[in-house]
Amino acid sequence: MFLALRQIFNVLRLCVDLNGPLLSPALYLFEYVRVHYEERVESFDARFGTDTTSPFIERHREDRAYFYVPAVASVISHALSTLPLERNKFVFVDLGSGKGRALLVASEFPYARIVGVELSDHLHRIAEQNVKRFTPSSQQCVNFELQCMNAADYAFGNEPVVLFLFDPFGRAVLERVVANLEASLSSTPREAYVLYVCPQFEDVLQRSSALTKLKEGGPRWRPWSRYVIYGAVPAAASSAREPVAISS
Ligand SMILES: C[S@@+](CC[C@H](N)C(=O)[O-])C[C@H]1O[C@@H](n2cnc3c(N)ncnc32)[C@H](O)[C@@H]1O
Repeated sequence: MFLALRQIFNVLRLCVDLNGPLLSPALYLFEYVRVHYEERVESFDARFGTDTTSPFIERHREDRAYFYVPAVASVISHALSTLPLERNKFVFVDLGSGKGRALLVASEFPYARIVGVELSDHLHRIAEQNVKRFTPSSQQCVNFELQCMNAADYAFGNEPVVLFLFDPFGRAVLERVVANLEASLSSTPREAYVLYVCPQFEDVLQRSSALTKLKEGGPRWRPWSRYVIYGAVPAAASSAREPVAISS
């Protein structure tokens, strides 16, 4: 009895500590109901035998907790389908990849490589299982690379990149991620897109000298489905082909 009460207290304490939009147990409950409702509508896990739906909270440091909820599959899919990508040329990188929902959806597009970076070892291992289970006939990329590490330390490679973010972390980590991307683009100029779902710190992207806003989408009344797309297209790439047009 005492143990159960202590566990309930610990969960509530974690909820109150959360950074970002989920600042209270009431909002945690809201997210729990919301993602299960979305799963009833989309049947993502039911269709693919994966485990991506349930939220998860984890404390990483004394003063900090991290929260997993999956992005809505149809939102990821729609936003990705608007990007003007050359086949097998781009790497898809999800920083804060959780159980891997966005990685799985991205694998239905012709990426050269799909990278998931997640801080939580528990979520990282679930994502590894999900990648093994996800084998639809529509899959176009099976080259997955899952890394358990802090996104702030992720070093971008030299390929054209689609960076995916679903409200994964606060301003400080996002600023480091954008600085890392800018440094990478400055040393190896190439095409890059940033798809930021639930973009509560969009001003960090707005301030970037390397990125330009290309599009926004999703209904305003569903903040978890709102997204913005920023892009960096070096002069050489843009003059060699039609101007980048992002369809709606
Ligand atoms: C809202 S979930 C997004 C999950 C996934 N991208 C999706 O769309 O289905 C945010 C994830 O970011 C992770 N996260 C938070 N801070 C992080 C950091 N500094 N480095 C890596 N992952 C982090 C959390 O553990 C959580 O799994």
